[in-house]
Amino acid sequence: MKILVTGSHGQLGNCIRKVFSGDADLDVVYTDVEELDITDREEVDHFIRENKFDFIVNCAAYTAVDRAETDDLKAAAINTVAVGYIAQAASRHRVKVIHISTDYVFNGESFRPYEENDEPYPRSIYGRTKLEGEGILTSFCQDALIIRTAWLYSEFGSNFVKTMLRLSSERDSINVVADQIGSPTYAGDLAEAVHDIIKHKKWLPGIYHFTNEGVASWFDFTKAIFEIAGKKTKVNPIPTSQYPTPAKRPLYSVLSKMKIKNTYGVNIPYWRDSLKKCLSILGE
Ligand SMILES: NC(=O)c1ccc[n+]([C@@H]2O[C@H](COP(=O)([O-])OP(=O)(O)OC[C@H]3O[C@@H](n4cnc5c(N)ncnc54)[C@H](OP(=O)(O)O)[C@@H]3O)[C@@H](O)[C@H]2O)c1
Repeated sequence: MKILVTGSHGQLGNCIRKVFSGDADLDVVYTDVEELDITDREEVDHFIRENKFDFIVNCAAYTAVDRAETDDLKAAAINTVAVGYIAQAASRHRVKVIHISTDYVFNGESFRPYEENDEPYPRSIYGRTKLEGEGILTSFCQDALIIRTAWLYSEFGSNFVKTMLRLSSERDSINVVADQIGSPTYAGDLAEAVHDIIKHKKWLPGIYHFTNEGVASWFDFTKAIFEIAGKKTKVNPIPTSQYPTPAKRPLYSVLSKMKIKNTYGVNIPYWRDSLKKCLSILGE
């Protein structure tokens, strides 16, 4: 099976490389912007036509959520327009697409986990560009499977876990938002889920949700990081109103995982167990 992974220098791309490297049946081409800039329409079509892939896993994205508020054209070029280029080329050359989207497509006003067909209503430019990416993908390509995920961290790149570990060595106490609720998700577990889907005998395109099991606030998440890593820094809970950011975040962004579990039987670990695993890889 021949697979293209775009944006492979990012967190998820690196985790996918780690997981896929254990599977000798997979012939994987890893690209990032230097090898394949997904905003280059002709290059995307040429690369996909020449390589005869079975699957494209699109991990490339503009993920700087706050910067996107003022850099909206670039965010849209990568998260929306370029996804359309991939969709058109995939459809033309009969390649299946697995694309990653986000909990930020929702407004965060729900009182129960979001299901795949709940009405999206993004509150940020990033969320809007990702939602429009979902739309353009499914309008051009029938063979597209979208996985919405949330609160990703890993041993690769920069992320919340690494930032908190760094702050723990610089400060005696930190303030962390306690009224935004979601599910911290280890990108390595998402990479395993992508592998499960590729290897499954069923291929059912559509939207799926994947996060780790359980829920937490950013405050809970930070407490757990420090507890597991044995850090003494005090964590103070604060409301979102005391930590203003350019982009609005959903207050509640827990995703229901029933569809991906029932369809693909993926195993979803509890967030604290995966956090322990990642911290031990980080030497904590
Ligand atoms: N991180 C999260 O908390 C989170 C939450 C929900 C959903 N997601 C989604 O999950 C997916 C993976 O996220 P991630 O955390 O792995 O992101 P990431 O670490 O930012 O990786 C994205 C990769 O795409 C590359 N890229 C940017 N523009 C490109 C282009 N024009 N052509 C090719 N590659 C390009 C980036 O390169 P540069 O670094 O040089 O720009 C980076 O290597 C994304 O779709 C994201 O929207 C992430």
